[in-house]
Amino acid sequence: LKLAVLVSGGGSNLQAIIDACKASDYPAEIVLVFSNQLDAGGLDRGRTAGIRTEAISHKGYAGGREAYDTAVSALIEETGADLVVLAGYLRLVSTSFVQRWQGRLINIHPSLLPSFKGLHVHQAALDAGVKFTGCTVHYVVPEVDSGPIIAQAVVPVLPGDDAGTLAQRILKQEHRIYPQVIRWIAEGRVSTNDAGIVTIADAT
Ligand code: GRF
Repeated sequence: LKLAVLVSGGGSNLQAIIDACKASDYPAEIVLVFSNQLDAGGLDRGRTAGIRTEAISHKGYAGGREAYDTAVSALIEETGADLVVLAGYLRLVSTSFVQRWQGRLINIHPSLLPSFKGLHVHQAALDAGVKFTGCTVHYVVPEVDSGPIIAQAVVPVLPGDDAGTLAQRILKQEHRIYPQVIRWIAEGRVSTNDAGIVTIADAT
């Protein structure tokens, strides 16, 4: 399975996927790392791993979001990617982009969806007093942080946690489940029914 990984920041999830791809039995390879931020740390991680990296700044991009996303889609198509992996891509994607990649576009979000959509989720979880939170890998649909849930991992909220310590605990789980989900998809084991419920078939 050929992956295009889209990042905006440090790219620790990207790194987890890069590392997973090093195993000879891992059924995926990254063909493109793309960022909307020219200085994203994730681009360095891609370059270091010898992967094609591209960046287009969204700031002042002529034509607005639709035109920008069309350019990103063209780049992804050029690489022959089968799956688009959002990994800390902090930019809303347009509905036409989502439709273009429907069923082949996944995201990771640092909460147990549908709780705590949007930004500042760690503080939101602390403020709500939940005792457990976690992360979710899901297919992307036009509505933000919605879409069929593929996998989740749970972590406890511990006394004394702040947004930083909680984020670190969750990130560890993100780095575990994102490569796992990509493996399942590559193995053809992930299916979604008409109600948007995902099931993972046993490995054969
Ligand atoms: C992760 O917490 C991810 O869930 C969220 O943004 C963060 C990205 O971290 N969408 P990194 O760039 O992968 O280190």
